[in-house]
Amino acid sequence: MTATTSDIEKAAGVLRAGGLVALPTETVYGLGANAEDPAAVARIFQAKGRPPSHPLIVHIPSAESLDDWVQDVPDTARRLAEHFWPGPLTLVLRRGRRVPLEATGGLETVAVRVPDHPVALALLSTFGGGVTAPSANRFGAVSPTTADHVRTELGDAVDFVLDGGSCAVGVESTIVDATGDTPTILRPGGVTREALEALLGGPLAAPSSSRVRVPGQHPSHYAPRGRVVLVEPDRVIAEAELAQRLGHRVGVLVPASVAHVPVKAHAVVALPASITAYAQGLYGFLRELDQQGCDLIVASLPTEEGLGLAIANRLRRAAGPRTTV
Ligand code: TXA
Ligand code: MG
Repeated sequence: MTATTSDIEKAAGVLRAGGLVALPTETVYGLGANAEDPAAVARIFQAKGRPPSHPLIVHIPSAESLDDWVQDVPDTARRLAEHFWPGPLTLVLRRGRRVPLEATGGLETVAVRVPDHPVALALLSTFGGGVTAPSANRFGAVSPTTADHVRTELGDAVDFVLDGGSCAVGVESTIVDATGDTPTILRPGGVTREALEALLGGPLAAPSSSRVRVPGQHPSHYAPRGRVVLVEPDRVIAEAELAQRLGHRVGVLVPASVAHVPVKAHAVVALPASITAYAQGLYGFLRELDQQGCDLIVASLPTEEGLGLAIANRLRRAAGPRTTV
C-alpha cells in the first residue's frame, strides 16, 4: 500500500518530465507538479477545473530552503517556520524569482509549506525542487484524505498516485499571511490559532487587517453533492427526521453529545467525541454520505476552538451558496 522507494523515484521522474503526481501529506492529498515548470502548473488547473487566478501552495523540503523560494522574510515568519515545520502551517510571503506567476495566480506573494509526511518529504528530497500542489480534488469539491479518493475523483488526469495511507490531520493547513510583522490567519487549519498565539505571545491580527488578497476563498467550497444544512446540535436529529419525512434522502452527522439518541434517516454518521478524530474523519464522512446518495446533509458546528475552528470553517463553506462565479 504505502509508496516504496522505487515509487518515489518514479514519481520524481514524472515531476521532472512535466507530469502530475498525487502525493500524501499530513493534511489532505495534494495534486503536485514541478513548481518551476509553468506548463506543468497549468495542467494542475486543467485537471482540477480550477480558475487559473487561484494561487497554489509550493511544498518545500525544509525550513532551511525557505529563502530559495521567497524574499524579505520577517523575523516572525522565520520563527513560525522553525517551530511548526514540517507541519500543517502555510506561510504567505513575498514571491522569490524561482516561483512563476502561473503558480501564484499572478500575485507577488507565494504560499509555502513543509509537509509533515514521510512520503511527501522523500519525494521532495528525491525530486530536489519545489512541488506546487492544491488539494487533489475537483474544484469546489471535498478534499481527498486517501489515495482511493484521488483515484476515484481524478482518474487519468493524474499521471502517478503515491499512496501514503489515510491523512493524519484530515483538514488542510492553516494559512497565515506572514508578509508583515503581525501575522494574520487567512484560512484556519491543522495548526490551531491557540498554538500560533502561544508561540507568538499575543493575539493574532484580525483577518480583515490582512494586506493580501485571498483568492480561492469562494463561499461554496469543500462541498459534497448533497446540500448541507447547519442547525444547533440539539436540533440535528429533529431536523433530519423532518426532512426525511418530507421525502429527502437525509444524511446526518450526529454530534457526539446526542449520539445515544436513535435517528430515522437514510444514512447516519456518529461523530467521534475527540475533535482530532472528527477532523481526521470529516471529509471521509461527507464522501460516505454522498456515496449513499443523500441529497441533504444535516450537521451542526463544533465549538470553534482548537481544530473545531477549521472544521466549522469547512462546514460553513460546504453549506455556502452554490453560485458558479
Ligand atoms: O493542507 C493544505 O494546505 C493542502 C495540502 C495539499 O498541502 N493544500 C491545499 O491547497 O489546501 P489548496 O490549493 O486547495 O488551497 C490553497 C489556498 C488557496 O485556495 C488560496 O486561498 C490560498 O491557499 N493561497 C495560496 N497562495 C496564496 C497567496 N499568495 N495569497 C493568499 N492566499 C493564497
Ligand atoms: Mg482545496
